[in-house]
Amino acid sequence: MEGFIHTDDDVRLRYTEHGSGRPVVFVHGWLGAADQWRPAAQALAGECRAVVYDQRGHGRSEDARSGWTIHRLADDLAHLLERLGATDAVLVGHSMGCSVIWAYLELFGPARLERLVFVDQAPAMVSDPVWDERTIAHAGAMFTDAELHRLCHSLADPESGEDTVRAIVAGMVTRSAPPGLTERVIAWALRVDGSYAAELLRNHAHQDWRRQIGLIRLPALVVAGRASVVPWTAAEWIAREIPGAQLEIFEPDEGGSQLLALENPARFNELLREFLAGPVTRTQDRLSASSHRHPLNAKEQRHETHSDSPATQGARRKQAPPTPAARGGAVARTRRLARRQRTDHSLSGSGALDRDSGPMAAFRGGVIAMSTATQSLHEGFQNSPPSVEVEATFAWLDRIDAHPLTQEIKRRMSELCPIDAGDRVLDVGCGLGHELARLSERVGRRGRAVGIDANPAMIAEARRRAAEAWFPGQYEVGDAHNLDFPEDTFDLCLTERVLRYLRDPEAAVREMTRVVRPGGSVLAFDFDSDQTIVDATDQSLARRLADVLDAAVPNPWIGRQMYGLFRRVGLADVRVVPHTVVLTGADGFATYRQLNQGTIARAVQDGQISPPEAKTWWGGLEQAANTDRFLSVNLGFIVAGRKA
Ligand SMILES: C[S@@+](CC[C@H](N)C(=O)[O-])C[C@H]1O[C@@H](n2cnc3c(N)ncnc32)[C@H](O)[C@@H]1O
Repeated sequence: MEGFIHTDDDVRLRYTEHGSGRPVVFVHGWLGAADQWRPAAQALAGECRAVVYDQRGHGRSEDARSGWTIHRLADDLAHLLERLGATDAVLVGHSMGCSVIWAYLELFGPARLERLVFVDQAPAMVSDPVWDERTIAHAGAMFTDAELHRLCHSLADPESGEDTVRAIVAGMVTRSAPPGLTERVIAWALRVDGSYAAELLRNHAHQDWRRQIGLIRLPALVVAGRASVVPWTAAEWIAREIPGAQLEIFEPDEGGSQLLALENPARFNELLREFLAGPVTRTQDRLSASSHRHPLNAKEQRHETHSDSPATQGARRKQAPPTPAARGGAVARTRRLARRQRTDHSLSGSGALDRDSGPMAAFRGGVIAMSTATQSLHEGFQNSPPSVEVEATFAWLDRIDAHPLTQEIKRRMSELCPIDAGDRVLDVGCGLGHELARLSERVGRRGRAVGIDANPAMIAEARRRAAEAWFPGQYEVGDAHNLDFPEDTFDLCLTERVLRYLRDPEAAVREMTRVVRPGGSVLAFDFDSDQTIVDATDQSLARRLADVLDAAVPNPWIGRQMYGLFRRVGLADVRVVPHTVVLTGADGFATYRQLNQGTIARAVQDGQISPPEAKTWWGGLEQAANTDRFLSVNLGFIVAGRKA
């Protein structure tokens, strides 16, 4: 049965009901449509009153000239629940649909609701620059602010809008998605005006629902795809926050993408059916929660306003025990635990970030790669790049520094050349100052920690970050070939992943040696590009690409050359420690892709590699990542010497 509601800002929204009984309302995602939920609604029609609707400006609902915000969409949902006379509705949200539900709970509380289903949505999509990797993983943050704005501009621009939508949708399915699914989803997405789509995405992505999720006390089912663009670590966090929530992760070979309900409707519908069949309860929480503003029920609102303060209600919600229904969810979860544990890459494990738990994994490999597709990260480290590239290089340096494998390199470097409080250290090519910040702390106020970098934008950002640090360090623009310090100034001079980019690495090591005091140390780390191996099927293409990637930096062999170089400039006690970096899983693939995509795209433009070859290359590696077979190994060297 089809019906319409008119919102109070005069937008006509279309909904369809299947079956009778308890209302189960499906809320589609950004650029989605009611049609995406139709198979699930029809499958459940014999057991409940399944309702699908098109949100404003989507599907067959009317366009709206305003109201492209999550809270307005939540208000629309409230109108729909009112029309349905719902008192015990189940809300099933997909992607942005989950945000609409969280906003609904914030505005209206759970009075009309009985249970909730959240499919593949992160609580906070934009990362805060101060967040560490774990916080980013829990929030499921996929964008920096700048990346989000770039994406929105590209969506709103009629020239690039359609291509952007197509690229986004392509990243929402697994490679084994049924034929035609992508085109159907693209058709739903292109129905929405580009500038409205951008406005809504901006508003949607800027929400942070973590606090609101922490207040939920209704039975909840949280579903995510391991291969989704939304980091599945966020679903884990959500399920942990909601007492008794049931967590289900679809693996890549189970259609575990952002569109998992469409890729694997059989499993999804069965899951939903089982969850809906759990015991029905009203919790104290639920009954008390009518204190939320509800424009459709002013009497209720007045009553609650006098009976309880928001602060007390919040505290009571926090303390409410899990409901029996929620405990039912926990039992169901336990039943599935064995299966989950076989594939669980929980963040609590030490090697977690080596695998596909990296919070930005899919996004980095997808949308950000799209925005930097023809830019090479390596280029950004050789010149002072235009601002659009600076963002990508910043994001890369942040991501790499937080990686446990990088921290392991740092640990081994400081074992080779320990420093003490009061020492004077110089970091050449310090980038954003990640290492210098740590060194500053170690040398303390009596010591001196200086970082120089040729890129003024790097130094400006390093200074900005250092401004509030307890041990801020000193950051200067400078050239490694010509250090602006008198000789014998420092106890240690180090450089990490910089020599490969220099016009004359030997001149730089000579300079580093000059500014170190006799007995002081010179320390360097760099990769040998020629020693990067990838488990790819086409060996001859892999060899040609190795040449392409070698040519991306002026000194691809610097890893093996540093020993000779240190000896040539007269350093004593030269020690060499090889260090391998093993990248696996979706996160490893995302890292590999982010580093190399721009270089390979350039090679295609230059005619060194044909477009079909590039497509085959990326397709093969992506398939390996989706089936957990991706492997890339990079060989680097730590080299240390002493000034005689
Ligand atoms: C890959 S980044 C490494 C940054 C930092 N060492 C780290 O580990 O995070 C390379 C850095 O070298 C800097 N660089 C390139 N050429 C340089 C030069 N001639 N003198 C000083 N720094 C330079 C780049 O601006 C960039 O910040």
